[in-house]
Amino acid sequence: MAEAALSLTEAFGALGTAQGRQDPYPLYEAIRAHGDLAWRGPGRLVVTGYDACARALRDTRLHVQDRTAFDAAHPAWRSHSSLRAFTSSMLYSNGSDHARLRSLVGFAFTPPRVRELAAVVEDMADRLLDRMAVLGADGDPVDVVAEFASRLPVAVIGALLGFPEEDQVWFRDIASAIAVSTDGFSDPAGLHRADAAMDALAGYFAELLERRRRAPAEDLLTVLASVHRDEPERLSHEELTGNLMVLLTAGFETTSFLIGHGVMIALDHAPYARRLREEADFADPYVEEILRYEPPVHVTSRWAAHDTELLGTAVPRGTRLTLVLAAANRDPRRFTAPDRFTPGRGAPQPLSFGAGPHYCLGAPLARLEAAVALPRLLRRFPRLSAAERPVYRDRWVVRGLDTYPLALGV
Ligand code: HEM
Repeated sequence: MAEAALSLTEAFGALGTAQGRQDPYPLYEAIRAHGDLAWRGPGRLVVTGYDACARALRDTRLHVQDRTAFDAAHPAWRSHSSLRAFTSSMLYSNGSDHARLRSLVGFAFTPPRVRELAAVVEDMADRLLDRMAVLGADGDPVDVVAEFASRLPVAVIGALLGFPEEDQVWFRDIASAIAVSTDGFSDPAGLHRADAAMDALAGYFAELLERRRRAPAEDLLTVLASVHRDEPERLSHEELTGNLMVLLTAGFETTSFLIGHGVMIALDHAPYARRLREEADFADPYVEEILRYEPPVHVTSRWAAHDTELLGTAVPRGTRLTLVLAAANRDPRRFTAPDRFTPGRGAPQPLSFGAGPHYCLGAPLARLEAAVALPRLLRRFPRLSAAERPVYRDRWVVRGLDTYPLALGV
């Protein structure tokens, strides 16, 4: 059956399979064929159009999943520590709670503050590349995801928060386990593992926070620990744990996937690899187009806390919205030849980091990391090539490479 002829149920059914998730883009077009906004069933709206997604993300009557939404959909959610932590964080709160939680850490992620970190990120990337050189010295393939793309974001956020370097690989594995809980109740075994990981992480945070109370340092952990101690009404214990967890998890797989896709496309298209090596100002537009073309976050959701409307479609209170950011990024009405990878397109900005009040806090950091990592990797190993085909992680919401073994050519 041609993709365009699929019903919404069939298209979503296919997205639920490993085969469909391998290449979801034709399925997005099948969904788009039903309209920019399409009712998937009573009270369930799917949004694939760029303008409609951008509006929905900015509409403050549409809320992110919070405690109220979980209470309505999954009354047993409070027995899951990972979900309790998420719902205590800025990512899963709305209105004044959200503004309060975001303002406590926002100062550390502004573009000027992030630019100051460039030298630190470069140094971290170079150290990881040194390590890769050792691992691949005898000609063995090196998995660029495990050894580089996934390590750099954890190292950077770890340094910003003030986590000991030796614990970074542990975080990475814990953060992966916890991230599964964002898939909600569709994967009970995954949710169980996410809870166990969250419990371990909460214990670890408690110990670290205690250390910072005794011996303050120049890091975000110290700032947050003192806000919680001095003004607990601005930051409760649960909120502190939830926000630390989100800061640790939100930026790690996502940035790893951004870097992984950047490597994959450069190795498939030699002129891009050459330009990344040789042209200092090519990395920024290249990263921007990777974000549009292969966004790490494919979908997010909202629920209507109040009646609203989107581009003329009435959205009654209680509606659940699926916002397919990856489809919006390929909306043919906003992007010419959207399936073609074309660095330097300019406006409009892809929706890969969302928009509106929940716009990704770490966007400047993720952009910096990728723009530092890709040229440095390609310059360090000029004969880099794929040793095996890249393998995608079998997940839909946050999508990217699980493994990508490379021959370093050294
Ligand atoms: C390429 C990498 C990244 C992508 C694609 C990405 C994507 C996103 C998206 C789409 C949202 C909005 C979700 C929504 O509105 O429903 C978001 C929010 C968020 N991101 Fe990122 N992110 C990335 C990297 C990072 C990094 C490095 C950090 C580290 C600090 C981070 C921290 C956050 C936080 C804290 C939020 C919640 C903001 C809020 O609710 O106000 N992200 N991210």
